[in-house]
Amino acid sequence: MKGKDFITVAELSTEQIESIFELALKLKSNPDDYEDALTNMTMAMIFEKPSLRTRVSFEAGMTQMGGHAMYLGPSDISLGKRESVPDIARVLDRMVDIIMARTFAHDSVTTLAEYASIPVINGLSDLHHPCQAIADYLTILEKKGTLKGLKLAFVGDGNNVAHSLLECGAKTGVSVTIVCPKGYEPKKEIFDAAFEEGKKMGATMAVCNDWKEGVKGADVVYTDVWASMGQEKEAEERKKIFLPYQVNSELMALADKEAIFMHCLPAHRGEEVTDEVIESWQSVVFDEAENRLHAQKSLILKLLLGEIE
Ligand code: CP
Ligand code: NVA
Repeated sequence: MKGKDFITVAELSTEQIESIFELALKLKSNPDDYEDALTNMTMAMIFEKPSLRTRVSFEAGMTQMGGHAMYLGPSDISLGKRESVPDIARVLDRMVDIIMARTFAHDSVTTLAEYASIPVINGLSDLHHPCQAIADYLTILEKKGTLKGLKLAFVGDGNNVAHSLLECGAKTGVSVTIVCPKGYEPKKEIFDAAFEEGKKMGATMAVCNDWKEGVKGADVVYTDVWASMGQEKEAEERKKIFLPYQVNSELMALADKEAIFMHCLPAHRGEEVTDEVIESWQSVVFDEAENRLHAQKSLILKLLLGEIE
């Protein structure tokens, strides 16, 4: 993986995902073994949108491995406004070792990757959130001991997180059902590609508008906000449309008895999830958040140094 970009989960092989998990678990149990791995290396972190987990996990991760991360917020570089995306990519290319970007348009991340020779990591775009998916499946692996054959029900908007969960499910053998209101399904081309890819691993991708049917027997129930960053104007309308899809105790009761509850966070309690569910024994949301750190450290090491022990 040395020198490559990480824009979507679909571009990774099953073996590469497994090797990211393996190194992430080593980093989690023995972080000191890698404390000098990235001496003198710098990550530029471009943010067009707010963040807690992504910013802190990347910045702390670089520090923990002896490197440094630099925050470039919306008012610092005004991606595409003060300066074009290709120009920004070519300037950063001369100064830092790796770029992480959180953008509105997915095109902005792919353009950065096209114009920079150094690795570019997608830290969330309107279409994908691949770092989240990698951390989430690592969490499921830890909690369930395996991935292949499991069923994940994503309840809510067919959004960036849903897209990356579909793609990662297809590569790891987890069947993913997107349970959503009509009109809020995932993008057809992303779903169709995951559907085809999933067949190779015996996983079935599905979309279901009936929440009772969609969550039945699920090993993992996952939700995310109803209005993503950039969709604030639609928030009120979406509250009405999505209310029947709230993850509450009644919905959780239809999943497997041992089902875990996941949320990428930040959560809007009382909207997509009740306090009762997110605070229940089934909820693993903070383990999931912590795993952003370990999974991304693993990813950074692989992109910068290649296959390391
Ligand atoms: N889950 C996630 O990406 O969180 P932030 O938006 O806080 O980075
Ligand atoms: N779908 C959400 C995820 C936040 C981490 C958003 O894009 O705002």
